[in-house]
Amino acid sequence: MPYSRVSSTTALIDEGNLTQLEFLALDSTFNFADGHARQELTASQEKIIGDLPELFAQAASQPVAELERTAFANYCRLLGQHSFPLDAGRVFTCYSSSVAMEIVARSLATRTDSIALIHPTFDNIPDILRGVGLRLVPLPEDELHRRDLDPRLLDDVESVFVTTPNNPTGRVLTADRLRRLAGQCAQRGTVLILDTSFRGFDSRAFFDHYAVLEASGCRWIVIEDTGKLWPTLDLKVGWLVTSADTGLPVADIYSDILLGVSPFVLALIGRFVEDAASGGLGELHRFIAGNRRLLRSALDGLPRISFPDQESRGSVERIDLGERSSSRLVLEELCERSVFVLPCRQFCWANPAEGDNAVRVALARPTESLATGAGVMREVLARQC
Ligand SMILES: Cc1ncc(COP(=O)(O)O)c(C=O)c1O
Repeated sequence: MPYSRVSSTTALIDEGNLTQLEFLALDSTFNFADGHARQELTASQEKIIGDLPELFAQAASQPVAELERTAFANYCRLLGQHSFPLDAGRVFTCYSSSVAMEIVARSLATRTDSIALIHPTFDNIPDILRGVGLRLVPLPEDELHRRDLDPRLLDDVESVFVTTPNNPTGRVLTADRLRRLAGQCAQRGTVLILDTSFRGFDSRAFFDHYAVLEASGCRWIVIEDTGKLWPTLDLKVGWLVTSADTGLPVADIYSDILLGVSPFVLALIGRFVEDAASGGLGELHRFIAGNRRLLRSALDGLPRISFPDQESRGSVERIDLGERSSSRLVLEELCERSVFVLPCRQFCWANPAEGDNAVRVALARPTESLATGAGVMREVLARQC
């Protein structure tokens, strides 16, 4: 396992990346680390799983291109993305959004050497971008939401990368801000890239991004992701979607890496999309909101504990630990009691100290295990007041 290179949990908390910390938690009952969907199946989702043999047969008999088109189109419609493109060569189906990221990063690296990246965000994004040799310039989230980008920042880079809704903060780029940002990118020929992996949790991100991007005339790439929404044991799809002419060799690099995603996975995702459209999405939103309330009320009244992302609807929640030295002691003690959450240091990829006093808890978990885990968190935090 890659995390074996660090000798202790403490070293991992300080030096490891988030995925290495997520490995540690994988088989724990109290795994609140990764942002993957690990809640129980709903009754109607269980029915889909009961139909797997039929789905397999359907997937084997239907043309893959048709399955791909249907799953993508229905997924986009579900989330309000009605102006999605379907032209040949503009939608690339990947095993996951990280694979889509890798393809985007490698494509960018053939033509450009610098990128502005939202700060904070999930650390595998900066890691992948750095991995292909790009120079990263932090784009502070507050600035992105407050005003137009500083022209000096735009002069310094050839592409801009924004995660919306963001992980871990849950902040959503409004239609107006996206319009302004895409306009600025169009003026300068900058490529605008959006990672919308957490879109499905937040109806404020359901406005038609493709319409806004197309109207701006900028070169753009969007990464869509089904992997955070449904408890499909990581059977998921990441879609890499591009403007008509990005000037980047996306299709060539895609073909360097994969032929396509299993039609069985596409058929399965197609059924989960249908289920979401007939009430499942609302149910999911209520479930996450319920788990968020549970966590907040379980920790209510503890000195200096706060929840900085009051508006977030995403499936993760940050807890600000106040001035309890650093989050390390809290994380170590939670680990000893088999409760795993993530430090926020690593999300702050340009300045880890900014994340020192916060941890992130995954909410897409069975409510009962979250309640027990939150009870342990309360005991640990109360002792460390
Ligand atoms: C914003 C964002 N994009 C992409 C990913 C990568 O997802 P995956 O591991 O399914 O490739 C993550 C992982 O949590 C994420 O938070």
